[in-house]
Amino acid sequence: MNLKIAVLGTGSVGQTLAGRLTELGHSVKVGTRDVASTMSRTEPDAMGNAPFATWEAAHVEVQLTTFADAVVDVDVIVNALSGSASLPVLQSIGAQRLADKILLDVANPLDSSKGSPPTLFVKDDDSLGEQIQRAFPDLKVVLADGDHTVFVSGNDSTAKQAVTTLLESFGHTDVIDLGDISTARGTEMLLPIWLRLMGSLNTVMFNFKVVR
Ligand SMILES: NC(=O)c1ccc[n+]([C@@H]2O[C@H](COP(=O)([O-])OP(=O)(O)OC[C@H]3O[C@@H](n4cnc5c(N)ncnc54)[C@H](OP(=O)(O)O)[C@@H]3O)[C@@H](O)[C@H]2O)c1
Repeated sequence: MNLKIAVLGTGSVGQTLAGRLTELGHSVKVGTRDVASTMSRTEPDAMGNAPFATWEAAHVEVQLTTFADAVVDVDVIVNALSGSASLPVLQSIGAQRLADKILLDVANPLDSSKGSPPTLFVKDDDSLGEQIQRAFPDLKVVLADGDHTVFVSGNDSTAKQAVTTLLESFGHTDVIDLGDISTARGTEMLLPIWLRLMGSLNTVMFNFKVVR
């Protein structure tokens, strides 16, 4: 089934997900703060990825629009924002526009203010996924994290099934449903070990696989 999808986020994660979703035949809009300013960037990002305009030139079918306009008339919203921007951006869009849509949330609650490696600004007894769900009770938040094994957490089983189907269409065959949105705590707290592995392996091209 072809879906109308808004990807909030112009970074490498937003670009990768928007590109793959478009390849799979979905109709995709990407949201940003300011379209002109994002398109005028010429420098690569901190990870050396090309500026958004370069990606957009190779994906002309993807419309770049403001965050608030991106979510209009879509079936699924993907949160590919920085963790700290996630709640403020969703609040600026407003509960009325978000309504009871499915939010596929891949954001991590990273705090880089104290240097590297970053810490988590929420953990142990709460998670970013839960904060978003509490702020927008009608939104069907499904946290999805990982690559070889993808963990999903969410309160709405129909939304989780829709997200699982989408993830499986990406080629992720090992999708583990951890339970309700509070199980996002465990997934988000994988970040500290992931960051140490990145430092040790000197690459971001790896991920977790659960071996039964
Ligand atoms: N689940 C996973 O497996 C996985 C893997 C890797 C990364 N991640 C997570 O995916 C997310 C995206 O990562 P990324 O590296 O592609 O991008 P990023 O640099 O973390 O975030 C870029 C996006 O955040 C927006 N943003 C940043 N600061 C903002 C602010 N103050 N106000 C409003 N918007 C702001 C930017 O808006 P503009 O477009 O206006 O610049 C941009 O769209 C992160 O949360 C990251 O931790 C998840």
